[in-house]
Amino acid sequence: MRIVVANRKGGCGKTMLSLNIAGTLAAHGKRILLFDLDPQASLSEILHRYADQVSQPLSNTLLAGDLAASITPTHIPAIDFVPADEHLSEINRGVDPHSRRTIRGRERLLANLLARSETTLSQYDMLIFDTPPDTRGDLTSTALVVADLVVVPIDPHAGARGAAVDILTLVEELQPFSDRTLHLALILNRIKMQTGSYDLQAADAARDAFGDSACKTIVPSWLAFPKAAEDGMPVAFVRGSDFNRAASVIYTLLQEVDRRLDGQLELPK
Ligand SMILES: Nc1ncnc2c1ncn2[C@@H]1O[C@H](COP(=O)(O)OP(=O)(O)O)[C@@H](O)[C@H]1O
Ligand SMILES: [Mg+2]
Repeated sequence: MRIVVANRKGGCGKTMLSLNIAGTLAAHGKRILLFDLDPQASLSEILHRYADQVSQPLSNTLLAGDLAASITPTHIPAIDFVPADEHLSEINRGVDPHSRRTIRGRERLLANLLARSETTLSQYDMLIFDTPPDTRGDLTSTALVVADLVVVPIDPHAGARGAAVDILTLVEELQPFSDRTLHLALILNRIKMQTGSYDLQAADAARDAFGDSACKTIVPSWLAFPKAAEDGMPVAFVRGSDFNRAASVIYTLLQEVDRRLDGQLELPK
C-alpha cells in the first residue's frame, strides 16, 4: 500500500500528516518506509535524518541504483526513512542535476526506482510520501503515479477548493502513466474545535462542498502535533494524555480511510 500526502498549499499539514500516519500505522504493527520528497526537507529536519547519512542521496537513486542506498533508520524500529536532498529541486523541475539535461520519462522515475528495488521494499508493508507544495513539479507527479491513496490535507480557510480540484486534475492527467487505482481522501486539518467556532463552520462548509471525497474525521488544531514533531516523534510514540488523544484521532481517521478502501490498509480491528 502506497500513500502520498499532497496539496499545493504550504502549511496545510502535509508533513505533519505524513509523519503521524506513519507513526500510527507503525504503532499498529506496520513496517513503514517514509519518503521526504520535499527539497525543503522539513520532514528530514524533524526526524534529524539527512541525505549525507546515506550512501546515495535520493536524487541519485531516482536516476539509477537501488533504493537501499538511500534509506536511514529512525528512532522508531518500524519506521525507516528516505531523506530529502538539495538536488531534488532540480529533479522537481525535470533536470538531471549531474548532466543538466532534461530527464526523459520523468513521470515514471519513482515507479522505475521502486520496480528495481523490489527486494529492499519487501521489508515494508507501507510506503508513505511527503511531497513539496508545488504540485506542478515532477516529484508530486512521480509519487501520484505509484500511489494507491492520495491524502490531501485541507485548510478550510485558504484555497481549499482550488487545492482539491488541482489534485483531481493532476490525478486524471497522470492516469496514463499509472497502472494502479488511485483513491482520494481529503482531510480537514488544524480545526479549532470550540462549539460554533468559525473553524468548525468552515470545516462543515468544506465537507459539504467536497461530498464523499472528504473524510468525516477532522484533525483538530492541537499543540500535541508540533510538540511531538519538535522532539522528532509522531504523537503515537509520545507518552501523555494530549499525545494519546491526538494519536487516537489519527487512528480514527485511518479506520475511516480503511473502510473506504475496503480494508486495504489491513488495520487491526
Ligand atoms: N492539526 C494540527 N494542529 C496543530 N498544528 C498543526 C496541525 N497540523 C499542522 N500543524 C503545524 O502547522 C505547521 C505547518 O504544517 P506542515 O505539516 O509543515 O505543513 P506542510 O507540510 O503542508 O507545509 C507546522 O508547524 C505543523 O506542526
Ligand atoms: Mg511539508
